[in-house]
Amino acid sequence: MLKDPRTTGALAPSSARLARELANLAKDSENVLELGAGTGAITQALSKVVNQEKLQIVELQKKLAVSLKKQYPNLKIVHSSAHFALDNYRHCGSVAVVSSLPFRSLPPAMKHLTVQSLLAFLKVSPGSQLIQYTYGLRAPFRAPAEFKWRQIKWVFTNFPPACIWVLTKTPDQ
Ligand SMILES: C[S@@+](CC[C@H](N)C(=O)[O-])C[C@H]1O[C@@H](n2cnc3c(N)ncnc32)[C@H](O)[C@@H]1O
Repeated sequence: MLKDPRTTGALAPSSARLARELANLAKDSENVLELGAGTGAITQALSKVVNQEKLQIVELQKKLAVSLKKQYPNLKIVHSSAHFALDNYRHCGSVAVVSSLPFRSLPPAMKHLTVQSLLAFLKVSPGSQLIQYTYGLRAPFRAPAEFKWRQIKWVFTNFPPACIWVLTKTPDQ
């Protein structure tokens, strides 16, 4: 956090309750892609409810990615930026993208690239969703009209309290 506050975005790991809520929303998708896994609090909850072949984990900071690989030797852990991982992610079927990315504090250029990759990904991946939490009152980032944010719930047993949102592409008419 002290070394890179803008990309880390939180003072403490996600709580077990927040992690369970996110995993519960993701578990019925055919694939799960976790972005910004950090210390692995959400990875742990996901690994309990998602088949390991269907789960891929992405983390930007090398030290954290190496530590995740040690903790979860059987999972596919990628040391990469989220936008690069999304642009190169090969899958079959629906995907739940579970994200801890700190959109409120990310450097603008990185935020722009990441949002563009997420929107492009949702456009070409039918039935897929972005499951994202934020510490703010508004949706994590603005999305064009063809996408819809749904506010799911606040989790107060997290520091700071976090609100879970889901972004989907609205079906073509
Ligand atoms: C809020 S913290 C992680 C919280 C995590 N749920 C935990 O409990 O540790 C956000 C994480 O996203 C990672 N991150 C930030 N920008 C990223 C990007 N563009 N691509 C991949 N990971 C990124 C940071 O390195 C950090 O580990």
